[in-house]
Amino acid sequence: MKIPERDGFASRFGILVAVAGSAVGLGNLWRFPYLVGNNGGAAFILIYLLFVFLLCLPIMFSEFVIGRRTGANVFGAMKKLAPRSGWLSIGVISVVTSFCILSFYSVVGGWTVDYIIRSFSPGFLTADSGALSDTFKHFISSPLRPAVMMLIFLGLSALIVSGGIKNGIERYSKILMPVLFLLIVILAIRSVTLPGASQGVNFLFNPDFSKLKSDSILAALGQAFFSLSLGMGCIITYGSYVKKKESIVKISVISSLADTLFAILAGLAILPAVFAFGISPGEGPGLVFITLPQIFAQMPGGMIISAAFFVILLVAALTSEISLLEVVVAYLTEELKLTRRTAVVLTFAVAGFFGLLCSLSEGTLSEYRLFGKNIFDLFDYTASNILLPAGGLLMVMFTGWKMKKADLLDELTNGGMHTMSRYLFKGVVFSLKFLAPVAITFVLLYGLGLIKLF
Ligand code: PFF
Repeated sequence: MKIPERDGFASRFGILVAVAGSAVGLGNLWRFPYLVGNNGGAAFILIYLLFVFLLCLPIMFSEFVIGRRTGANVFGAMKKLAPRSGWLSIGVISVVTSFCILSFYSVVGGWTVDYIIRSFSPGFLTADSGALSDTFKHFISSPLRPAVMMLIFLGLSALIVSGGIKNGIERYSKILMPVLFLLIVILAIRSVTLPGASQGVNFLFNPDFSKLKSDSILAALGQAFFSLSLGMGCIITYGSYVKKKESIVKISVISSLADTLFAILAGLAILPAVFAFGISPGEGPGLVFITLPQIFAQMPGGMIISAAFFVILLVAALTSEISLLEVVVAYLTEELKLTRRTAVVLTFAVAGFFGLLCSLSEGTLSEYRLFGKNIFDLFDYTASNILLPAGGLLMVMFTGWKMKKADLLDELTNGGMHTMSRYLFKGVVFSLKFLAPVAITFVLLYGLGLIKLF
């Protein structure tokens, strides 16, 4: 009997848009601007960029190497490379983290669906921030509506993933990602050309290090991991669908650049408008759901701009959500031999259940708290600041210390097909062996409160 060929990406463009699609998401549009606002603007961006290129890029290489070399899901990959060893914990962490992120990510995804619909309802857009804040708080704390929206969003993602890689993830990313970039560029132009926008542009590009808090460093690393979809096997999984002839180095560099560019564009679309209307940039997570509608209300054509913005948010979230789902679905189909359809339905059910808990934790279940955080914040904090760095740490340690250097070079250069300068390779190995593990450990210990910075 002929074994059916494993599904995979059909084109280079397909890989790039899928990886960039995973990276560009709520992290760029919902989290990055408010983190920048809360942590002193450009100074935070500089630290963020340093983390992306010095620490995260080598981790992305590691994930692609592990995935492509084995052509398997996270668990299968570690089983092939290091059978019956502690390294299998990478597989466990990945699946647990996927569910953690899926839970709260689906909830915010649901909010975006709701806000697209709301944009068209008369009376929603108002310059009164108190009214908008009430609308938002009332909506997210009600039991039914946000839960239904969450399930719609999760369901849409599940539908795409059930189509597989070529006919699902790749096909939709190829359509959605170019639309996303076009829309964010238009919105950024609109925002920077508003009278009074220059203050916001300054805030984004002129660093003021006195505004940095010690927590900013942890936040910048957590954000870099989250934004590049690292540390939880997502890139291992996508990497396993990449053909041998493609250059891992090029794909990693281009998608990291695209993600960073998109985050800056999102900052440009949001912060100058915030300044132009005399609002404080440190508005926290409510920035996009409360502050922005207040701004849209004061712009000509506000209804269309508002709807376009929430469509951007939805599309960005969708192409990331599918990559989270795929980590679990690939595991279930390959390790537990479920059909793709059954795996998708099962993942939908479990993620839907945790999503429901997160959604209700904004209202009905808000009393249930651990370390002062409700379920939603707990999942977000644990995943971004602890599990992702821990997973990333194990991955770099694996490729830096356990994998043969010859195998690493072989994957990075496609068996010598692409050249890689000796110095660059040495730099990558140095980062994998020392720089990244030490820096991530440091930030992790700090995040856990075991060491103090200043
Ligand atoms: N990178 C996504 C964002 O910035 O919104 C979030 C994410 C997707 C994290 C996929 C992790 C992941 F595996």
